This record gives sequence, structure tokens and C-alpha cells, in this order.
Amino acid sequence: MLRAQLVVGGARQALSSHWRMEQRKDLRNILTEITRDERIMAAAACNADSSVFASTTDFPSQFSCSQIGIHVRPATDASIASWTTWHQEDSLPGGAVLVSAIPVSDDQQPLGFVVLVQDLSYAERREARTRRFVLIAFGFIAVAASAITLLTARFSWRSWSGEIHRLARGEAPKQAEFRPILRDVRELVDRIMVERETEMEGGAWTPQRLKLTLKRHLQGERVVIVANREPYVHEAQSDGSIKVLHPASGLVTALEPVVQACSGVWIAHGGGSADRETADKNGRIRVPPGEESYVVRRIWLSKEEEQGYYYGFSNEGLWPLCHIAHARPVFRSEDWRYYQTVNQKFADAVCEEVDSDDPIILVQDYHFALAPRLIRERLPRATVIMFWHIPWTNSERLGICPWRKEILEGMLGNSILGFHTQSHCNNFIDSVDRFLEARIDREQNAVVQRGRSTLVRPYPISLEWPVHWLKTAPSPKECRAGVFAELGLKPDALLGVGVDRLDYTKGVEERFLAVESLLERYPEFRGRFTFVQLAAPSRTLIERYRQLNESVERLAARINERFGQGTYRPIILLRSHHEPPTVFRYYRAADVCYVSSLHDGMNLVAKEFVAARDDERGVLMLSQFTGAARELTEALVVNPYDIEEASSALATALNMSPDEQRERLRSMRVFLAEFNVYRWAGRMLVDAARVRRRERLTGRLAEHLVERDSS
Ligand code: G6P
Repeated sequence: MLRAQLVVGGARQALSSHWRMEQRKDLRNILTEITRDERIMAAAACNADSSVFASTTDFPSQFSCSQIGIHVRPATDASIASWTTWHQEDSLPGGAVLVSAIPVSDDQQPLGFVVLVQDLSYAERREARTRRFVLIAFGFIAVAASAITLLTARFSWRSWSGEIHRLARGEAPKQAEFRPILRDVRELVDRIMVERETEMEGGAWTPQRLKLTLKRHLQGERVVIVANREPYVHEAQSDGSIKVLHPASGLVTALEPVVQACSGVWIAHGGGSADRETADKNGRIRVPPGEESYVVRRIWLSKEEEQGYYYGFSNEGLWPLCHIAHARPVFRSEDWRYYQTVNQKFADAVCEEVDSDDPIILVQDYHFALAPRLIRERLPRATVIMFWHIPWTNSERLGICPWRKEILEGMLGNSILGFHTQSHCNNFIDSVDRFLEARIDREQNAVVQRGRSTLVRPYPISLEWPVHWLKTAPSPKECRAGVFAELGLKPDALLGVGVDRLDYTKGVEERFLAVESLLERYPEFRGRFTFVQLAAPSRTLIERYRQLNESVERLAARINERFGQGTYRPIILLRSHHEPPTVFRYYRAADVCYVSSLHDGMNLVAKEFVAARDDERGVLMLSQFTGAARELTEALVVNPYDIEEASSALATALNMSPDEQRERLRSMRVFLAEFNVYRWAGRMLVDAARVRRRERLTGRLAEHLVERDSS
């Protein structure tokens, strides 16, 4: 309706002028012009008397001016003011129409009215058209969106797969937004590798495999080792020359092959009399002599530091505290202060030696209980692995130490804390439970403190396999002949061997007493059986060790006195340092090796004897109080305190048939070949990788939470 009024209103001027001038043709043109609007089908101009003045050609005949005029013009009043606009819906064969009549006047003089026929189906058509358009548009949008999605997915996938390919090739991802996801992919791959690595327990652990594990799981090329004892000691000789010595230390025996495989730095106390002159100005020296495959960084300690930290706190305090060998631990606050100072000194040296902010650091033994936390404070992202080479005492006994809390706190700076046996782990966890505020995750065997976790696990230490000293060792026959000649033994003599540092935990006195008991109870061995003890003097500044030296010597003399005849002496005590080639010659020459420790974390002498006997001859007698007794079950396991039992075992060993010797040794050798020191280190590194990954993930999660909270 409005449209009709607007259209007529717009053309009113032209309409009225042509109408007045009776220009019929021109008026028709205007009407035709009006019908150009596709919604207006037809138009007509009707005179005031309802006759037709002009119309478009297709004006429907059913709508006549006369009929419509009735509604527009009142019959009585001719004034224009009384004329009305009229509208009516109707229908034509093509559909509904709206017929409108609009009066047109000129200076208040009515000229007539214009009739417009509007197509009402236009709206429906337009609606339908709009619907169609919307449908088409939606269809198009849907197709386009799908295409874009497909393309994006394709590009994304290409980018993803490209990134994964890059990752698989060990290259850095190109797009920053992919990095977190790719890191997760890498971690997943890592985890699978770790699991595979763990499953591959049957496979041999070799230096190469260890190296690969370090590289693959920890992205590390080298490790930093912290140990009090250095692997090569330079000693000045009386003739002015310098001798390189291998210290008598199970720790050094085990760790040397590991650091050789992984390269890196070994930080140790430079205790040799010619250590300073053989190292550079930073205390560094490349070793082993002739091979130079890794670096020893020597730390210089003052006499007071050595006294307080090494002799005092470590060896008069912690050593007897951890060993059940009936020596009273002595704790002095002055020693404790030196222990703290020296731990800090070593931790500082670690920070100087590392080449990244997340290095792999292996801290060794009871000399460095505080170092892990000190290192962690300066290198929060470091993977610190500590191995405690001696037993860990029960919490009751730990209570003796006035600084037990500090010791435990220091050790919780580690990512991994290793002991030889599960029972030492249990003792440690119980100690934490008793003395510290920390959460114990018994399922994971971990201690969680201040959001950090320390995994506490048993890793029984072992030897390299095969032991490299065997490469150059003479045959067992030659060794026997040589050793027998050196000791002045008759060819039909029977030889027992003991190899130890002169330490009260080793049960050397109990061993000699067992020999005495053997000769007492089995007279057939008198004059025939000789026990040679290679005894390396150790920690001789400590009173208890001095006493031991004396008592052992006295005991040997007494037994020799009692059973010696002519040149025959049942006990030969060789109290000096022996280099590994000599030790191996003795192992290979002996009929029996007796390890009688009263308490020992592992005891590698037992394992060395088994390794030395590639001829599958000889018998191992082993104290039940060593970690090794849990693994070398084919040894004759004895209670060293039970002198009679031990002497019976000695007799059994000396009477054992070659077949039984072979059977027992073969089984133990198979075990050692598999459970070698590369496996020991490898398993710690694999576990460390797992901890590191978990820390990274939880660290990332924490970062996200902080970001979320601050946004
Ligand atoms: C034990 C300790 C080692 C130590 C070795 C020799 O095996 O666990 O850390 O090196 O004895 O003792 P020493 O005091 O001479 O280094």
C-alpha cells in the first residue's frame, strides 16, 4: 500500500501536468515507467468521472475505472478533500494482486485517480528466491568450509608430519606452537624407548649401550662424578720418581669403567703426594695415563679440612654409624663444620665443571651427604644421582648422629638415591619418616619434599665385564706357580686368599680365627693349607684402624706360632698396597677366597674373585652380611662370627670336587656377565631420565597454572 502511494507521490508532478494538458501519450509513458518496478504489473489513469484517460497495455480488464471510482470518489461531494485512497486484494490467473487507487489533483482540482495493480506473489517469489539464495549460500559456505578444513588439515598434517619427521631425525621443530606438543611426542618416544630398554634386560649391558643410554635418554654426552677418592693417585717415590697408583676402593673399581664409557669429569680430593705437580693450575689432569679419555679434577684440602671432613666426620662418624661392626661412632661439631665446608667446596667445583644448566651429576658415597642439596640450590634443573656405597643404618641408630636431619635433607636434593639393597632403601625411608616432614610415596619408593621427588631405589653395584685386568693376566697355572714361588709354598700346598683394606668391618680377625679353627679341627690341613691376606693399610690416622693393624698382626703371629712348622706358616699377612694385576694373580692362584665382612654394602672382592676365575676353578666363601651374598648364592655363604661354621666351610671348600667348583663358578659368572656395572649405571640413568621427564612435565604444568592464575 505504501509503495503505491510512494510511487504515485513521486510521479505526481509529471502526472498532473500531462493530465491537465491532456497529453494522453505522455501520461501513458509515465504509467509505463511506473510499471518498470517489477512489483507493479499494470497502471491506469482514470478521470474524475471514472472514464479511462490512459493505461498500460496489459492493464487487466476486470479492474475498470468505473467500478474502482465508486470507492475513491464520493457520489455527493466532489471536493478533492473527500476523495480517498482505496486498496483491495484480488486475484489474477498469475496469483494474488493488490489493487490500489490513489487520487491525483491539481491545485485542489481533482484530475482523477491512478490505479496500480501490484503483484502480491512477488513477496512469495522473493521469499522463495531468498530461501533459495540462503540455501545456495549455505551450501556454498559448507562446501567452502569443508574445503578449507580439509586444506587446513592437510597443511597442518603436512606440518605435523614434517615436524615429527624433523623430531625423529633429532632436529629442532620449526614452528613454536608445535614445540610443546612435539616435546610430548618426544617424551612419549622416550618413554617407549625407556620401557624397551627396561624390557631388554636380557640383553648385555656394554660401555656402548651405556653411552647410548646417556645420550638417548638424558641428551647428555658426559657426566660429572663427585667422589672423595680419585681413580689415579700420583705418589712421589724416594728415588724422586712419580708412581701412579690405583687406590684400594670398591667405589673406584666400579666407577672407573663407567666414567670411561661416558667420558666426563671426576671431581675428587687430590690426596697423592705428587698430585699437585702432575695436575694443571686448575687441578685438572687427563686420565687414564696413556689413554686420556676423561678428566680428573682434583680438589685441594687443607690438613684441617682432611682431618675434619674425611677422617673425622666421614670415617669416625658416618662409617661406624652405618656399619654394624661394633665400633662406636664419634661425632664432633668441629668435624661437622669441616664436613659442611668441604661439601660446599665440591658442590662449587661441580658448578664450575658443568656445561649446561641441566647436567647429569653422580655423587658418590657418605663423604657427600650434603652436596646434592647444595648442587640443587645452584642448579635446580640438574639430574643429581647419588649412590651410597655403604649400608644405611636403621632409624634408631641414625638417631646417634646429632646432624641426622641435615644429612637427610642434603640427600633429598637428589633426583635418585641408590643403595645396594632394598633393606637399605627401607631403612632410609624409615629414617625420613621418623626425622623429617616429607611425604613418602611407598608405591613409587620415593620421598617428596617441597614439590620435589627423590626416588629411592636399590641398584646393586658390580664390575665391568669382562674385567680388563684379565686381558694381560697370566694363565691360572702361571699365576699359581708364580704366587707359590713368591710365598715359598710346596707344589701340593692349598692356598686361601683374602683381599681387603685393613678395616674393622672386613672381619679379618674372624677370618684368621676360622683358619686356626680349621687347623685345629682338621689336622690333615696342617702344614698344607696357607691363607694369604693382602691387606692394604687404610685410614691409618684413626686410632681404631691402628688398633686393628696391631691386633691383626698379633693374631697372625699367634696362629703361626701355634701351627707353623719350619718354613710353613698358616697365615701370611702382606700388609701393603697391591696393584690390581697382583691382586688378580692371587685370585687366580688360590683354591679358596674368603670374604668375611661383618657388614658390607656389596663387597666387590667377592665379585672380582669370580671374574678372575675364567678357568672355573676355586671356591668363594662369603659372609652372609655382604650385599654380594644376596646375588652370589652359589658361594659358600657363612656367618663370619660363627668360627666353627666358617672353618667347616673352609674344609668343604678345600675338599670340593672340580665339577662342583665349576658348576658354582659358572653360574655366578653368568650372573656377573649380565649384572655388570654398565647395567648398574644404565639402570640409574634410565630411572633418572624418567624422573627428569616427570619433573619437566610437572614443571610445565605448574608454569601453565601460574600463567592461568595470573591471566
Ligand atoms: C669404601 C667406601 C669408598 C672408599 C673405600 C676406600 O669402599 O665406600 O668410598 O673409597 O672404602 O676407602 P678410602 O677411605 O681409602 O677411600
